[in-house]
Amino acid sequence: MLLKPLINLCWCALALCLCMFADILYQDYAKRNRARQTASTEEIAVPGDTQTAPTYDEEIYKAGKKLFRSNCATCHNRNMKDRMTGPALTGTEERWADYPREDLYAWIRNSQLLASSGHPRALKLMQEYDGKVMTAFPQLKDEEIEKILYYVEVQSR
Ligand code: HEC
Repeated sequence: MLLKPLINLCWCALALCLCMFADILYQDYAKRNRARQTASTEEIAVPGDTQTAPTYDEEIYKAGKKLFRSNCATCHNRNMKDRMTGPALTGTEERWADYPREDLYAWIRNSQLLASSGHPRALKLMQEYDGKVMTAFPQLKDEEIEKILYYVEVQSR
């Protein structure tokens, strides 16, 4: 009499075990799938990859905009296309592409100092904009300059 419910109970327990095992397998599969998806979005963000559409980062853009407005907008036009006291900044990174990134940082931190070291791009700029001197920004960190350059790049699109 007691044997039948006991066997039924065993079946139930077995079925439950199978369900749990299937769930574990599924969770693992889903996790790996997610990891693969993130990896492929990261691939899209590789800089200089012309095959994929340019990515856009709202946070960096906003931070760059804020820094640009408070430091640079008095002399450089926000549309990045028209000249004001300073040149239009569209294409800046291409014009500095022959030099290490640090040179562009150095220019923004202290253009006069870079020119006095004989840097060709700095000397050319000084000649072109004879008499006008860009403010020095020694307090700007590399990441902050990168954010400004990102803003410039997006505004130029
Ligand atoms: C007081 C005006 C002034 C301010 C403020 C200013 N600039 Fe300039 N900028 C200039 C002038 C003028 C030049 C042209 C070179 C020269 O005469 O120094 C220049 C040139 C540049 C160049 C070189 C562009 C090229 O074609 O190679 C970059 C990059 C630049 N500025 C970025 C910035 C950034 C970023 C800021 C803010 C952090 C800033 N500038 C703030 C006046 C200014």
